[in-house]
This record gives sequence, C-alpha cells and structure tokens, in this order.
Amino acid sequence: MLQENIANSPLAPEQLNKVNLAVQDLNTNQLLWVSGFIAGLSGQNKIESNNNRQTKLTILYASQTGNCRSLAQQYYQKCQSLSINCQLHSLADYKPRNITKEEYVAIIVSTHGEGDAPDDAEIFHEYLFSNKTPQLKSLKYSVLALGDSSYEKFCQTGIDIDLQLKKLGAQSVIDRIDCDLDFEESFSVWQEETSGYFSKNIDKPESNVAPLALLKSNPSEQFNRKHTYTSEILSIQKITTQESVKNVYHIELNIDGSNINYRPGDSLGIVAQNSNDTINALINSRGFDANKIIQYKNKEQSFVSVLRSLEITLISKSFLKFYAGLLGPKGFNELVNNHQQFQNFVSTRQLSDVLSEYPTPISEQQLVDHLFTITPRLYSIASSQLKNPDEIHLTVALVESSTKQPNNGLVSGLLCHSLKEGDKVEIYVENNRNFKLPENKDTPIIMIAAGTGIAPFRGFLQERQETNATGNNWLIFGNPSFDNDFLYQLELQKHFKANLLTHIDLAFSRDQKQKVYVQHKVKQKAAEIWQWLEQGAHLYICGNKDHMAKAVEAELLLLIQEQGKLNTEEVKIYLTELKRNKRYQKDVY
Ligand SMILES: Cc1cc2nc3c(=O)[nH]c(=O)nc-3n(C[C@H](O)[C@H](O)[C@H](O)COP(=O)(O)OP(=O)(O)OC[C@H]3O[C@@H](n4cnc5c(N)ncnc54)[C@H](O)[C@@H]3O)c2cc1C
Ligand SMILES: Cc1cc2nc3c(=O)[nH]c(=O)nc-3n(C[C@H](O)[C@H](O)[C@H](O)COP(=O)(O)O)c2cc1C
Repeated sequence: MLQENIANSPLAPEQLNKVNLAVQDLNTNQLLWVSGFIAGLSGQNKIESNNNRQTKLTILYASQTGNCRSLAQQYYQKCQSLSINCQLHSLADYKPRNITKEEYVAIIVSTHGEGDAPDDAEIFHEYLFSNKTPQLKSLKYSVLALGDSSYEKFCQTGIDIDLQLKKLGAQSVIDRIDCDLDFEESFSVWQEETSGYFSKNIDKPESNVAPLALLKSNPSEQFNRKHTYTSEILSIQKITTQESVKNVYHIELNIDGSNINYRPGDSLGIVAQNSNDTINALINSRGFDANKIIQYKNKEQSFVSVLRSLEITLISKSFLKFYAGLLGPKGFNELVNNHQQFQNFVSTRQLSDVLSEYPTPISEQQLVDHLFTITPRLYSIASSQLKNPDEIHLTVALVESSTKQPNNGLVSGLLCHSLKEGDKVEIYVENNRNFKLPENKDTPIIMIAAGTGIAPFRGFLQERQETNATGNNWLIFGNPSFDNDFLYQLELQKHFKANLLTHIDLAFSRDQKQKVYVQHKVKQKAAEIWQWLEQGAHLYICGNKDHMAKAVEAELLLLIQEQGKLNTEEVKIYLTELKRNKRYQKDVY
C-alpha cells in the first residue's frame, strides 16, 4: 500500500508491513482521518513531554454530493504541504461541542434543499444556533460556502454558520467566500489566502508524519470529477412507451477491470462536453463567429473550442443578470429578481433560446466571460454490485426541448439520444452515506419514489435479494400511467411474486379522473406506515425535490401526528430522531 518512495522512512520493513496491513482497506476519507489521528498522537506525545500545547487547524466539511468533500481533501493536502498542523473531519463525525475547544477552524460547507444544511451538517448547525452554545471568543475561522446562485437561498448554510460564529464572538480571519457552481477559481483564492494565514499563525508539527501522497487510496476512489473512468455503454433501453409523456431510459455501463466499488444509494457522476449540435445551435442563434479568437483561462483560443466545455444547455442566474443589464429596461429585470419567475423562465429554455428570443449585441468574448464551465451530472445508481459486479445501471429521463430547435439536456441527451451502445462515457462514483440500506437485514424498509426516483430502489431490492435479507420491503411508486410509465414493471412483478417485494402501492396519476400521487398513497396507508415505523422501519424518498418530496414529507408529518397522537413539537422531535438514526433518508433532486 505504501509506495516505493518511502526509502527514507524511519520505519523498519516489518513496521512498514504492519502499517500497510492496517490501512489497506481504508478509503480516502478514512485514510485522511487516520493520518490526522496519527499526527494528533504524535502531537500528544509532545504535549506530555514539553507540557506545551501545540496549535492546530481543524478543517471541517459537510457535503451532500461530494464537492465540499473533494475540496476539503485538497485543502487538507495543501495545508499538509505547508506543514500546517491540521486535522480533517466531516461534520458527520465531529462532536459539535468540540468547536468550543478549537482555536483555528476552516469550514467548507454546501447548501441543499431550499437553503438547508447538508445532512451531515444538520446537527452542527443546530448546535451553533441552540442557546447551549457558549461564546467562542478564542476561535479564529474562515468559511468557504458552496451553492448555486440559481437557488433562492444562495449559500445559505455557509452564510448561517459564518454569521452565527461571528455572533458568538469568533473572529473571521479571511472573509467568507460564496462559490457558485463554478467553484474552482474561488476555492483557489480562498485556499491561498486562508492557508497563508494559518501557515503564519499555526505551529509546524515537529513529527515527520508520512505525507499523504504516500498513501494509495481505495481504487474506486481514484476516480473523481477530475480523474474519470472511461466506461463503455453496454445497453440503452427505453422503458417508457411511445405514448408516454416521458422518455425514460435504462442505461447499462461497463466497469469491468476498473476496480470501481459502489453500494446501492451511491450516485454516478458523468462528465461530458457539449455536442456539435448544441454548439452550432448557439453559434447560429446570433450568427457568432465560430473561429473568433478569444481569451479564456489566460490563453488565446477559438470561440468554438471554448464552447465545448461551457454550460450552454443550462442558464445560470448570474448570466441572466448580466444579460438583463445588456438588454436594459426593455429586458427582463423583473425576472432575475423574482425567483419563481426565473425558475419558470429557465425551465423551458436553453442559452440559444434566450439569445434569439431577446436579441441585443453581445460579443463572443462577453458571452464566454459570463458562462460557467460544465459541472458533472449525477445519477442515482440503479443496480447492486453484488448482482452486477462489472456493471453500473442508471434510470435516466431525457430532458427535451419543446422549442423549435432540437435542444436536449447535455448528459441525458447524450445517454438517451446521441450515444449508441459501444460508445464511451466519462464516469466516477459519488458515495452517498446518507442514502443507505439498514445494516440489519431484518429491518423493514419503505421506499417512496416517483419517476426516475425508482432508480436507487431497484439497487436496494437487488442488494436485499443477494444478501438474503429477511426484512419486509415496501415500494410506493408513482408515474403518469400504468400502461406507459410503469418503470421496471416485469422485474417488480417478479420480486413481488418471489415475496422479495412484500408490499407495493402504485399511484398512476393520469389513469383516473382525479390525480393520484404517491403522497395520496402515503395518506391512504397512514396506519400501516405508522405501524412499520414503530417496528423500526427505515423510510426512503427519492425523486423530484420540489413537488413529490415536499408533499410526501407533509403527509408523513401528518401521519406521525395523527397516528402517534403527538403534538407539533413532538412530531418534529419524532422526525428528527428518525433522521438521526438514519431511518428517514432522502435522495432528491
Ligand atoms: C443526487 C442526484 C441524483 C440524480 N439522479 C437522477 C436519476 O436517477 N435519473 C435522472 O434522470 N436524473 C437524475 N438527476 C438529475 C440529473 O443529474 C440531471 O440534472 C438531469 O439529467 C438533467 O441533466 P442534463 O445534462 O440532461 O440537462 P441539462 O443540460 O442540465 O439541462 C437541463 C436544463 O434544460 C433546460 N430545459 C429543461 N426543459 C427544457 C425544455 N423543454 N426546453 C429547453 N430547455 C429545457 C432547463 O434549464 C434545465 O435546467 C439527479 C440529480 C442529483 C443531484
Ligand atoms: C437538490 C439540491 C438542492 C440545492 N439547494 C441549494 C440551495 O438552496 N442553495 C444553494 O445555494 N445551492 C443549492 N444547491 C447547490 C449545491 O449547494 C451545489 O451544487 C454545491 O456545489 C454542492 O456541494 P456538495 O456536493 O458538497 O454538497 C442544491 C443542489 C441540489 C442538488
């Protein structure tokens, strides 16, 4: 496990072997923790011998979809390379009370839901805002907040944490930086400034801790958004009918020989570039000069080559604000200041649509200067590796344009429309520790999904089958119609016959006069769901964050109140307890 360049190690070969054995099964996160732990141990010895407390930097992060985790790991390595005495913790594993003992903290945190903290930061966030938290006058900190300015509450969690720390008397040593989807550059600035400050103010560790680069990580974690695995598409199958209002596809990817490991509940990141069709649509929308030489990332490049890697299928709020400025009063200022109007506007348009619908002079350089680089798209993995050791399956809805131009979503367009079996895609696995099956195989589970939300539950059922899990499995699934949109119908029927899927409820909204959605099924089955919860069931929701997940959670709260005969405060506590015990988990987008 330790690489060859350890010739100068102070360890004897047999000691090295022991270290190898001890760390060989650890993933990157665990390795980072162990590395910090060992650094801490050596620091402790020093405290005992010198009776002299060493200062240290604590790096805390909370991530839902992996971005903050990867930045925190980069930041940790940077601090180590500067010999800053530091430790790295996910907020999920950090006792909130410990913040009172810290002197230097760097926090990297994203925002999810509608301005909510990521799952891993919830307890820490709650602690900071409780009346129990003492003053933190000796704390010096800096916050890097990740978010997406197209959301109403941009970077809310980072803002909350920063303001609350200030309120508690802590001193922000470098101002918080709020990062949009294009976070790399802002991260570099924050990293340079904060590590410079910490490097000047924090002790250098005296021990010679093995630099992290010497440790090889878990092979599947070698692949990330920057270092992808090239996977062959094995199968693309449409799983809705011609009559369906949706085009949903089952996709199978080859990971044979990659050493990639995944678990049901994890997501797959796909990194892609714009197709010629999408680029041409943009160029033609305003007669841009494809060969115009422009400045991009300090290099001279042709407009068309730069467009390959910029977000042009999505419209960001920051671009729209800039464009509204160019349009002047006749434009759409109101749109960028009203979140709902903005959402409605961008949900049916791509960049080329806006440029042709609202023409105003804009140069190739101006356009490029205001676009983000493409970020990977995530897809819930729809298979279990126990059943499919060399494959990853996905359930993908094609995002299609209803306008005159043939506009598809970037990645769904590639997977469901442009690419063919045998073609390649760039992938990496994003672990999601907050959407996992119960460890105990007897534990019953309730899975609630609409549309492509079925994906992780297909993986869950395969895993429960492969591990001979005995707990009951209940699926509540909704989509427009039984005949056209019953995703994985045959498989689910087979599972039902085999008594793997012990309970199933279906909500096909358009099959009767009155619309029926999954939340209506939850309401109908309130007594039974309550019984399952009281028997220890884990409950999962996957699918649309705006309509489905909110409506289901509202029904869930109601059933807890009515069935459990609890008051509003008790209901809140009940749900929080479920969350804390990982018995209520959501994968919504
Ligand atoms: C954790 C997570 C898990 C996910 N799991 C899944 C999954 O299992 N299956 C799945 O299908 N998706 C899933 N998604 C969503 C997925 O990541 C992508 O967002 C989705 O596929 C769209 O990406 P795209 O590149 O195809 O489209 P993009 O290029 O991102 O374009 C989408 C945009 O196109 C525009 N648009 C939409 N409709 C129209 C229209 N009619 N005309 C013109 N423009 C339009 C809108 O601006 C929209 O935002 C998941 C997301 C997350 C965060
Ligand atoms: C379902 C969902 C909800 C989100 N909600 C918000 C939000 O309310 N405010 C915001 O600024 N960003 C929001 N974001 C954007 C994320 O904060 C952003 O993608 C960030 O880079 C994610 O970092 P992470 O991978 O470390 O969690 C949301 C993203 C998703 C997928």
